[in-house]
Amino acid sequence: MPNQLSETPDRLADQESTQSATGTEKKSVFIKTYGCQMNVYDSDRMADVLAPAGYAETLDPATADLVILNTCHIREKAAEKVYSELGRLRALKEERERHGGSMTIGVAGCVAQAEGEEMVRRAPIVDLVVGPQSYHRLPDLLKRTGNGSRGIVETDFPVEDKFDALPALDKKKTIARGRTAFLTVQEGCDKFCAFCVVPYTRGAEFSRPVANVIQEAKDLVAGGVREITLLGQNVNAYHGEGSGGKDWSLGRLIYALAEIDGIDRLRYTTSHPRDMDDELIRAHREVDVLMPYLHLPVQSGSNNILTAMNRQHDAASYLRLIERIREARPDIALSSDFIVGFPGETDQDFEDTLSLVGEVGYAQAYSFKYSPRPGTPAAGETVQVEEAVKAERLARLQDKLNIDQAAFNKSCEGRTMSVLLDRRGKKDGQLVGRSPYLQSVHVDAPDAAFGHFAEVTIDKGFANSLSATLISTHRDQGANQT
Ligand code: 5AD
Ligand code: SF4
Repeated sequence: MPNQLSETPDRLADQESTQSATGTEKKSVFIKTYGCQMNVYDSDRMADVLAPAGYAETLDPATADLVILNTCHIREKAAEKVYSELGRLRALKEERERHGGSMTIGVAGCVAQAEGEEMVRRAPIVDLVVGPQSYHRLPDLLKRTGNGSRGIVETDFPVEDKFDALPALDKKKTIARGRTAFLTVQEGCDKFCAFCVVPYTRGAEFSRPVANVIQEAKDLVAGGVREITLLGQNVNAYHGEGSGGKDWSLGRLIYALAEIDGIDRLRYTTSHPRDMDDELIRAHREVDVLMPYLHLPVQSGSNNILTAMNRQHDAASYLRLIERIREARPDIALSSDFIVGFPGETDQDFEDTLSLVGEVGYAQAYSFKYSPRPGTPAAGETVQVEEAVKAERLARLQDKLNIDQAAFNKSCEGRTMSVLLDRRGKKDGQLVGRSPYLQSVHVDAPDAAFGHFAEVTIDKGFANSLSATLISTHRDQGANQT
């Protein structure tokens, strides 16, 4: 998985051919995406919703008519980063205006949702602020800015379904976006972990109806996609309306998606331990295309801290769950998120986290220092852990996680695996793809193999990737990748 919350400076590497198909005046939009995969998905969908309004994507903010920052608010100084980016954009906007041009600046995503009006007060160059549940309204909002309105703020959680309002996927765009795709099936969260802003920025849990998800998956496959990652802030809480008006669980949805001809790989992220039900675990045993990788955040190994975090599980129940998942799929690679230095975390609590890590043996993981998020219960706690202590704990935890990850990668040496070669390597003649366990695998391969599955033998496992030798490629009849 690309780093869950890494910044993706731009995500447009292969999209220069995307053009609006209408007769409206041609304009360009630059979208910068921060944060998780949900935002990557939303940025693509913003581009889709803007295309009929005449906006083609560009890689160059300096020449763009519209710049959108699709922001993330999950941790540390998110809003400050956005304000400094806006400072840089201000210079670009002023330069354009000096030359008689114009540039519209929009802020979308979770910082937009959290800051709302404050954003236009602090950064008057912002023309519109649009929350994650409202971006389908972008064309209308842009019309209003075109008519001279400034500082429009649209951060309601609208009753109408955003997903219904979004256009169907455009086949050409899907082809340009490559062989792997994200598909948001669920949004929002009702869990209210004490550290987390998501329930406030993304709102209450909402699951897309099964029929919509299946249609979007079919459209992705028609556009050449072979691997789909189902997304949701709390994806395994999925309970979309299915046949007969009954709610379907994520497990049931996965069984149905696996039937679609052309889907070779399915993944899902991010899950909550409380929502790993029997059907989903059974899917890991029975559904071939469900990849043996699971991101199942535990956050802490201490029961005191798990209770204070309002995680609704303890360390023992998490470990029992892992045991059941491993029984179903013995080779599954496990991943997690950890927070160190949550308010009140003692040395012993931290040792409990290290000991849980030792018991599970993660194939990879993300770990963070606790950062108070305004408006969340934990931010008001008086016993905050000192910065130096957090830093020291994080370093110790990461050392351990890195050792485990390297060991997992090393254990893959000599194995034969299937890899979907969907990126070009830095070296000439090298292609890169993901293993079933989500590791990056580098292979010397002819360019004709690009966009196809290959059988490879793993030669070497490194800290963060694998290198392999090509055995064979499986060219399929899907969309042509260039
Ligand atoms: N401080 C530190 N890490 C956080 N996360 C979420 N909120 C915070 C916070 N306030 C981490 C959690 C979550 C991941 C997406 O980000 O580990 O699982
Ligand atoms: Fe945030 Fe995940 Fe907890 Fe929901 S389950 S509140 S998204 S950490």
